[in-house]
Amino acid sequence: MTPAIMPAISLASQPAQFDGAVGFTVAEGKDWSGALSALDAACGGAIKRTAQAASFDGAKGKTLLVLGAGADVPARIVLTGLGSDAPSDLDLNKAGASLLAEIATRGDTTLTLVPHDGSAASAAALVEGAAMRSYRFDAYRTRLKDDQKQSIATLVGACDDPSAAAGLMTDIAGRISGNYLARDLKHEPANVLYPVAFAQRVKDELEPLGVEVTIIDEARMEKEGWGALLGVGQGSVRDSAVVVMHWKGASGGVHDDPVCFVGKGVCFDTGGISIKPAGGMEDMKWDMGGAAAVSGLMKSLAMRKAKANVVGLIGLVENMPDANAQRPGDIVTSLSGQTIQVLNTDAEGRLVLADVLWHAQEKYQPRFIVDLATLTGAMLVALGHEKAGVFSNDDELAAQLFDASEATGEYVWRMPLGQEYNKMLDSKEADMRNIGGGRWGGSITAACFLERFIQKGQKWAHMDIAGVVWSDKPKPLVGSGATGFAVRSLDKLVQDNYEA
Ligand code: BES
Ligand code: MN
Ligand code: ZN
Repeated sequence: MTPAIMPAISLASQPAQFDGAVGFTVAEGKDWSGALSALDAACGGAIKRTAQAASFDGAKGKTLLVLGAGADVPARIVLTGLGSDAPSDLDLNKAGASLLAEIATRGDTTLTLVPHDGSAASAAALVEGAAMRSYRFDAYRTRLKDDQKQSIATLVGACDDPSAAAGLMTDIAGRISGNYLARDLKHEPANVLYPVAFAQRVKDELEPLGVEVTIIDEARMEKEGWGALLGVGQGSVRDSAVVVMHWKGASGGVHDDPVCFVGKGVCFDTGGISIKPAGGMEDMKWDMGGAAAVSGLMKSLAMRKAKANVVGLIGLVENMPDANAQRPGDIVTSLSGQTIQVLNTDAEGRLVLADVLWHAQEKYQPRFIVDLATLTGAMLVALGHEKAGVFSNDDELAAQLFDASEATGEYVWRMPLGQEYNKMLDSKEADMRNIGGGRWGGSITAACFLERFIQKGQKWAHMDIAGVVWSDKPKPLVGSGATGFAVRSLDKLVQDNYEA
């Protein structure tokens, strides 16, 4: 497992001369910044002339690459438009990302990003976006040519007063590292990243940062009665595992009770005996996207030393067909004591989460729980690849998730729970069945299943991230492949609402 390398990031004063490539933001209909005008003067107006020839006026999302503008200026200068409205942080993130995308493989090792307004906060937002877009998973590409490789290794935000955003850079480094970890985990194939390997990787990443990491193995789960989770893993030659990651960043006072994040970590989902069709099954290597997000979040919180107590719990299994696999119709007893008739072995994520959610509540009495799971194909039918579904028994928590998601571009949309859906899970032979009656409303019945393992009064939200953990087409901020969805938004949720 070779981790993707994050570029070094920093802020600096506006340099007299640029080292490597340089990128600028341009506000539509406004004068160019002093820094950009000075560079243009240094190359005899070549940038302005190119902009005019290309009709580049700073319209939102448009970029302009200026090559070889002069002997004493960077060989590659790139401009991106912000439009005429005042840009949000997310707009600046996206601007930084498009500047990076334009320059990434052209041979420069440093990219300096210069915001239109010269402010440290804007420079930091550009750097964050560029670092997000800079992610590459090339671990197994042994024959990449130089011009296919990412050359940028250093990102510098140039601004008038770098000290104004020094703290911000620590936060950004944490969030990006967490996002990168989540993406690495999703990219790794299932022959490499099986449950115990996942657990070990997370331990190696997080313990040095001061996170307490406990691995609950199969023997302990058998003794304690994690029957729902173990039933899913029993067809695999790989052992199942649960990882508990405890970050104790708050000291004393009302903020001591932890908040919990729970992730579905199905390292590969064949469907089991209710086997999936062959076409596209390879996608199910990222059926651990919830667990990846929780692991990345813990890394982010620890790196920026968040003043909060947070427990991340992930249930790691492999869902395989096998002579010893769970059969349709099997009845398992969950950790909560409730029995479940497993009518479809492909509805396995909810079985894993049932036991991990129960353990989280029994052990930590959390202020809230958010679980993340690539839970249902029906989620893609409802919201496509643009937004994740949020199901919650608490309006305040749902609103906090929504606000954090809007700020980071990791969009969520609220979906319903309700008795009408919940009762579809009633079984004549056990306390419940693991699927609803038909295929309609599949994401909602899945969420209702999880709700049956939420204790009275427990604030809880479930995020079905099936449509957003991976993107085949390039997205502005993340490019294509694993997105690391929810690391940055959940980090923000904690930072904005739960830090002392
Ligand atoms: N991991 C899948 C959900 C999934 C499917 C995520 C496609 C992303 C893309 C999950 O375990 C699953 O198989 N769910 C079934 C549930 C059904 C059997 C009730 C589904 O959605 O088809
Ligand atoms: Mn499945
Ligand atoms: Zn699954």
